[in-house]
Amino acid sequence: MKKAEVALAALSVALLAWSGAGCAQGVVDFGSREYGASCASCHGPAGKGDGVLVRHLVSKPTDLTTLTRRNGGVFPSQRVWETIDGRGSVEIGAHGSREMPIWGLIYRSEDTQPQDLHARNRIASLLDYLARIQQK
Ligand code: HEC
Repeated sequence: MKKAEVALAALSVALLAWSGAGCAQGVVDFGSREYGASCASCHGPAGKGDGVLVRHLVSKPTDLTTLTRRNGGVFPSQRVWETIDGRGSVEIGAHGSREMPIWGLIYRSEDTQPQDLHARNRIASLLDYLARIQQK
């Protein structure tokens, strides 16, 4: 009887460990995925400004890993957010216009529609990713 209990306990521990490992593998890095889909073609796979489209562009894409360093050590969240949702005061030609951004309307948010929540979530995950790739 005792042996069976021990075996059962061992089995549940093994199962727990197994399911834990499964969860860890299933974690999706949404920010990284957003970046890969919308920004990497110009800003490069690691944000260094060396994307595949660079040779077709008039101005060189910014190295996005130095945003913090160039902003006095603070990640410029508001500026980057507004650059993505099109409210940015400085127009970036390669990003297209507010009406027709290069990445389409997926980050468009007017604060009135339910789908705006998705746009804001996407921008937030993108900002999270960009903050994580900043050079120290
Ligand atoms: C079609 C190419 C292209 C794509 C796609 C693109 N960018 Fe850019 N981006 C540029 C270029 C070129 C510049 C530099 C413009 C300049 O200096 O005039 C720039 C500048 C920036 C800047 C300004 C950096 C600063 O110093 O303020 C930010 C922030 C930025 N991009 C973020 C993004 C993000 C986030 C995405 C994805 C959602 C993205 N870009 C997608 C080409 C692109």
